[in-house]
Amino acid sequence: MRMVDLIAKKRDGKELTTEEINFIIEGYTNGDIPDYQMSAFAMAIYFRDMTERERADLTMAMVNSGDTIDLSAIEGVKVDKHSTGGVGDTTTLVLAPLVAALDIPVAKMSGRGLGHTGGTIDKLESIEGFHVEISKDEFVSLVNNHKIAVIGQTGNLTPADKKLYALRDVTATVNSIPLIASSIMSKKIAAGSDAIVLDVKTGAGAFMKTPEDAKELAHAMVSIGNKVGRKTMAVISDMSQPLGRAIGNSLEVQEAIDTLRGHGPADLEELCLALGRQMVYLAGKASSLEDAEEQLKEVIRNGQALDKFKEFIANQGGNPEVVDHPEKLPQAAYRIEVPAREDGVVAEIVADEIGTAAMLLGAGRATKESEIDLAVGLMLNKKIGDAVKAGESLVTIHANRENVDDVVEKIYANIRVCDHAEAPVLVHEIVT
Ligand code: URA
Ligand code: CA
Repeated sequence: MRMVDLIAKKRDGKELTTEEINFIIEGYTNGDIPDYQMSAFAMAIYFRDMTERERADLTMAMVNSGDTIDLSAIEGVKVDKHSTGGVGDTTTLVLAPLVAALDIPVAKMSGRGLGHTGGTIDKLESIEGFHVEISKDEFVSLVNNHKIAVIGQTGNLTPADKKLYALRDVTATVNSIPLIASSIMSKKIAAGSDAIVLDVKTGAGAFMKTPEDAKELAHAMVSIGNKVGRKTMAVISDMSQPLGRAIGNSLEVQEAIDTLRGHGPADLEELCLALGRQMVYLAGKASSLEDAEEQLKEVIRNGQALDKFKEFIANQGGNPEVVDHPEKLPQAAYRIEVPAREDGVVAEIVADEIGTAAMLLGAGRATKESEIDLAVGLMLNKKIGDAVKAGESLVTIHANRENVDDVVEKIYANIRVCDHAEAPVLVHEIVT
């Protein structure tokens, strides 16, 4: 087989065989196929697309390019939830204990945040003592005994994707549905769960800016998952404005606690239930999605979800008292209100820009090496569709520096108030 012939085949719109796709990904991973040929191949896919079969093969070839996590020592159906990335997305912190409270194993491998999106591990580390540096054996035993554990990224997962993603970044081939879908799914499949629930975000703060693009990506990923034997479902959800009210690490832990108590922001609660019911259903613990949702609401009502969160924190070295005493979470030195300058209705809160405003305070990383400040962030006091009077606070800034003029300016530039606006639809579609 010669790479040049395979590039030509895809360029001419023909379908590649499984063997051909494996040859390309193996050759690229071990360095036999150079970047310039892979660039041409990625561009050919960009213009010619791939069939569902080719997409599944590409995904599995990338899975097989490196280590995979074996979760077979964990009893039960392991369901993973993956979000395509957003601002103030506190769903994992809520869903992990919520689903585990129903005896469904949550074996989560998580990452740190970069840029305007936060990372689950950073958020959890705002709880004093909490750590994710646990051994594989400890991880398995925690999930078997307590149904929940979070571990930091381990092993050399999907090296082919790492190499290809970096190449796509500089060859204008990131924005291709088959390439994005196989990239995301390869990482999820290598992480070992039996079933996958995807939260595909759409809007200013998301990778996919329109619901149509998000829908296409969701269908592509669900198809790949199901084709390779992992039950997969997706929710398409709004990320035009940040999710919930809190953006920032310890602020989001507090928000997760409120939500587990049944007093969280309405949008965060709605999305957690929409994703959670799919997780419970795929785990085989409910006869229908409605039944699954009822079970989730019950463990919020009876306090079991909150108890599970305390148990989880204690198991990983954290102080569970933060749940009843949130003042024990890191607190910022200054709270600064950002008042509305006119009467009206909030029409726009540009998610990615507001995420960047939180990053300026130190809540997120500008580069992989940046240190983050777990205490700082933003609390949105108004969301799209809310009425506001001049002088009323739009946002509370939690800062560890006195002068926050740069952040205030960014907030005013990205929150628009006008005469009339309605809250955006949160859950656009369920893809099964
Ligand atoms: N996120 C990924 O992991 N891969 C892509 O290709 C795009 C977004
Ligand atoms: Ca939030």
